[in-house]
Amino acid sequence: MPESTFERLPEAYRDLNEPPPVAVAPPDTWLKDWSAILKLRKNLLVLWPKRAYEGKTFTAQLFKQHYFICNSPDSVRRVFLDEHDNYDQKSPQMRHSLEPLLGDGLFVSDGAVWKERRAYCAPAFESELLPDFAAIMVDSARELADHWESLPAGSSIDMLNEMARLTSRIIGRTIFGDDTSEAEAATVVDNFSQYQKAIEQLNFSDSFGLPHLKWLGNPMAKWQSLRAAQKIHTVIDQIIERHPQRAKPESPTLLSYLLGEHTSKKTSGKRCPLSSVDARNEAIVMFMAGHETTANSLAWVWYLLDRYPRVAEKLQEELTQMLGDRSPRFEDVPQLPYTRAIFEETLRLYPPVPVLSRQARASDEIRGKAVPPNSIILVIPWLLHRHNLYWEKPNHFIPERFMPGQPRPDKFVYIPFSVGPRVCLGLRFGLTEGILCLATLAQRFRAKLKVGHEVEIECRLTLRPQDGLPMQLEPTASSVTPPQ
Ligand code: HEM
Repeated sequence: MPESTFERLPEAYRDLNEPPPVAVAPPDTWLKDWSAILKLRKNLLVLWPKRAYEGKTFTAQLFKQHYFICNSPDSVRRVFLDEHDNYDQKSPQMRHSLEPLLGDGLFVSDGAVWKERRAYCAPAFESELLPDFAAIMVDSARELADHWESLPAGSSIDMLNEMARLTSRIIGRTIFGDDTSEAEAATVVDNFSQYQKAIEQLNFSDSFGLPHLKWLGNPMAKWQSLRAAQKIHTVIDQIIERHPQRAKPESPTLLSYLLGEHTSKKTSGKRCPLSSVDARNEAIVMFMAGHETTANSLAWVWYLLDRYPRVAEKLQEELTQMLGDRSPRFEDVPQLPYTRAIFEETLRLYPPVPVLSRQARASDEIRGKAVPPNSIILVIPWLLHRHNLYWEKPNHFIPERFMPGQPRPDKFVYIPFSVGPRVCLGLRFGLTEGILCLATLAQRFRAKLKVGHEVEIECRLTLRPQDGLPMQLEPTASSVTPPQ
């Protein structure tokens, strides 16, 4: 066993003789020609050879653009924490892709604007609002389970799609309340997918540091992205305009917080001072950041539970013992350690945001290697989470490594939510959502992968099962009486 920064697996799992779940076969060496770039645009994971799962830093030069890859806890710490002010800018690809949709919203801004926005938005994610949001999570998951129950026995579903519908419903209700029409919700969700598809075809020139090659970009894709952004803005502006007259003004929403309707302990009673355009941009940031990530991870959980019945059984035992016939509540989350461990181990194996990128403002040196100004820094959760130096059995699904009593992984190696001042603002929200949705649905259903379907990994902006996840639903024993 090579040098490791943290403790080994629990004794009983060291010799576990199970095949690991689906991964990406690494090439023997770095891909060097143009085909590498084309492959990379389709799937960001095919580039990394076996060496990348053992090395600590790498550098690369694509025409004028210098790349620096941090693949060790100390280098991640330097970029995300110690020298944060030098590395707080997102890569030009990320900024140019998202600015038409998000304006100067939190996700793409940097410097003083980002600091101010982060301070304004953070109190909306404080613990005092989370119990209300948790109730939305459980209600939405129960509605989905009721819908599954109404389907004919043995029905097939696309689990990725189902989880995407569930999490966009949850984040939509959390941000906007219950007053959004089905048509508005569908316009926002559809145009988000359109936008994402369109921007994936842009930004060739940014990747090479050759801004004068902008014409290489696809004008049709540019137009499609602008049109999709415009449609999303129109719907959200309408929702903002009528938000003060919504049906249940006493229930807080993220938007009501951003529009300054509530005060919070953390801001010593001060109201959020965002203008309605800024509040709209931040609401879009939260919608964008807060639904596909959770949907993809929940879809991977279903795949893993089907593949590893021993884990599915232990999950059922915990749910039966802790909840019996009733639905989970916010207060139950700490009593569901195995459910949480499954979710955390899934985030390790299939991090929904598989690549994090920054641009260096000034020159630096990391592990003795020069970082010229404007270098693009890549931190790749996919590599760090499967790194041979930092994990025992890195490719195996062993939720037990996240159980209480086990040492926590190094926080600069296990980074599904990133780390440092720009850590995911929805970390507690996302974890709570994953645990409560999994508990609510798994109490009533198991899902079996369609016979003959080969699961493959698609890695673009997010990591998800390619071509969806066709599964067949089966009620669990306890679903005979639907939990209340
Ligand atoms: C499993 C679920 C989630 C995962 C794995 C996840 C992961 C991440 C990651 C890795 C980042 C950093 C991106 C970067 O630095 O380039 C991020 C940022 C962010 N996330 Fe999440 N996220 C999740 C859920 C959510 C939810 C539910 C929300 C909101 C309700 C949210 C809101 C945000 C925001 C606002 C940022 C930008 C923070 C900033 O730049 O200051 N996320 N997330």
